[in-house]
Amino acid sequence: MCGIIAYKGNKNSTNIILNGLKILEYRGYDSWGVASKNDKIHIFKEIGKIGEINKINLPNAKIAIGHTRWATTGSITKENAHPHLSCDNKIAVVHNGIIENYEELKKNLKNHRFVSETDTEIIPHLIEENINLGLFEAVKKVANLLEGRSAFIVISEYSDDLIAVRKGAPLILGISNDEYFIASDIPAFLDYTKNVNYLDDNEMVVIKDNPTFFNFETGDEIKKRIITIEWDKEQARKGRYDHYLIKEIMEQKETINRAINQDESEIQKIANEINNAFGTFFVGCGTAGKVCHAGEYLYSKIAKKHINFVVASEFSNYKHFLTDKTLMIAVSQSGETADTIEAIETAKKQNVKVISLINVKGSSINQKSDYSLLINAGPEKAVASTKAATSQLALLLLLAYASANRLKEGKLLLIETAGMINDMLNLRYEEHIKRLAERIYENEHLYIIGKAANYPMALECAIKIQEISYMHAEGFAAGELKHGPIALIEKSTPCIILVANDETKKDVLVNAQELKTRGAYTIGISPEYNKIFDYWIKVPDAGDASPIVNIIPIQILSYHLALLRKHDPDLPRNLAKSVTVK
Ligand code: G6P
Repeated sequence: MCGIIAYKGNKNSTNIILNGLKILEYRGYDSWGVASKNDKIHIFKEIGKIGEINKINLPNAKIAIGHTRWATTGSITKENAHPHLSCDNKIAVVHNGIIENYEELKKNLKNHRFVSETDTEIIPHLIEENINLGLFEAVKKVANLLEGRSAFIVISEYSDDLIAVRKGAPLILGISNDEYFIASDIPAFLDYTKNVNYLDDNEMVVIKDNPTFFNFETGDEIKKRIITIEWDKEQARKGRYDHYLIKEIMEQKETINRAINQDESEIQKIANEINNAFGTFFVGCGTAGKVCHAGEYLYSKIAKKHINFVVASEFSNYKHFLTDKTLMIAVSQSGETADTIEAIETAKKQNVKVISLINVKGSSINQKSDYSLLINAGPEKAVASTKAATSQLALLLLLAYASANRLKEGKLLLIETAGMINDMLNLRYEEHIKRLAERIYENEHLYIIGKAANYPMALECAIKIQEISYMHAEGFAAGELKHGPIALIEKSTPCIILVANDETKKDVLVNAQELKTRGAYTIGISPEYNKIFDYWIKVPDAGDASPIVNIIPIQILSYHLALLRKHDPDLPRNLAKSVTVK
């Protein structure tokens, strides 16, 4: 987590850093800070979100670094905010990641004065300790000493070089005419350039007048090709919307079509790999995990094939079942989630082939996979995943159809579904859901039930509501209700019922009736009206694509619950978009 950014060029660097940090804020918003350098290093730090701040009190400078923090080691204080400094205040560092051996390294820095509780602070002190080697050699040495996944950027009064190191956490160099940007994510500098170099693991870049790349383990210089990325800067902005979340929800009018616009022979090839593998695992975290779980059901129903769904953080428990015939499908919007990366590394050790579904080209998971499919959802900025989730679902559904040798049929179904979503996402629909939010936002508990692929979707709906409205929401397999959770139902407890127009419908409606009999306020998400529902939200009858259409109204509901409960829907407390720590 955390976002880092740096600039070297002729413009006012602090404004560029401040704008970049606002864009990176989705990665963490406990505190933030900037260091700029002219003849001296100047620091500015604050606790909390950057919010509407448009100017900071730092002298104009051509080199600067910035950081927005999701606290891991050390509580949320100004002292713990980055950048961190060496004892002589001449070296400033911003860091994203975790230094697993920092306590051990700190023991060798007895003469140094530490002012924070962070692991990061050892970096400027270690560089200072080795500065007699010259800044480049000192940073290189330190890069080799650190254990764990990290990325850090260094500026100093010892030279005008800007140096950045990637060791497991993302870092991208942006190149414009005679100016350079380094950031954890491309949108941070998309206003200025689309030309980038991705740093790979164990690489560092030194920017004097031009950038030079090195492998810091071997010391070898590396040549890199400039890549022009396709993202449009308007895509990464809120536009006419008040929040990224609602913008991204509404973008689902187009994103399903973009997700399925793939080379059909590639899709068929991957589907064949799944068919031929001796054990396929779908692996992801958070929303991507729920998508994988739904994928297991979709594969079972459509391709009559068993898939093992495993939450990425639990994957190592399955290492005994991995062989070189096993296949892993890793699903991740950011491509940077530490638990998913670790699962991939576990798989790779056993020679498992890894195919990933990702949204961010050049991300760590993209680099670590044997093959990646891009979901093409465009930048997703709100912490709660919406359009990426439905795009991932669409691709897994397409793969399931391809595995059943019905690729064309699957594609047609998804094209139709995309059209239905386009019609559904209008203002009147949103108003109808907002009225429901107004009825239930003061409740503290909310339950969601679903069956088959709509069961993981009930779990996904619960995450959505929890993370942005802070209401207690729980999802259940509809049939499990009577085995415990039904004891929680009181008069007027809101319960959402996800219905698909298929063989599961009858059972789910029976369970809905059981809830209603106990006094629940029943909310039906269903293609058809049923008198069991106290409130009905109509969704298109999308056949096997029902999990895709059923979560969309709950995304909208979560957004309005968050607004009514006066929470920021884009930056929920304690969370971050890209969880790069274990
Ligand atoms: C975090 C985000 C979730 C996301 C999960 C997995 O927890 O808050 O929205 O679903 O990470 O992220 P990934 O980028 O791997 O899909």
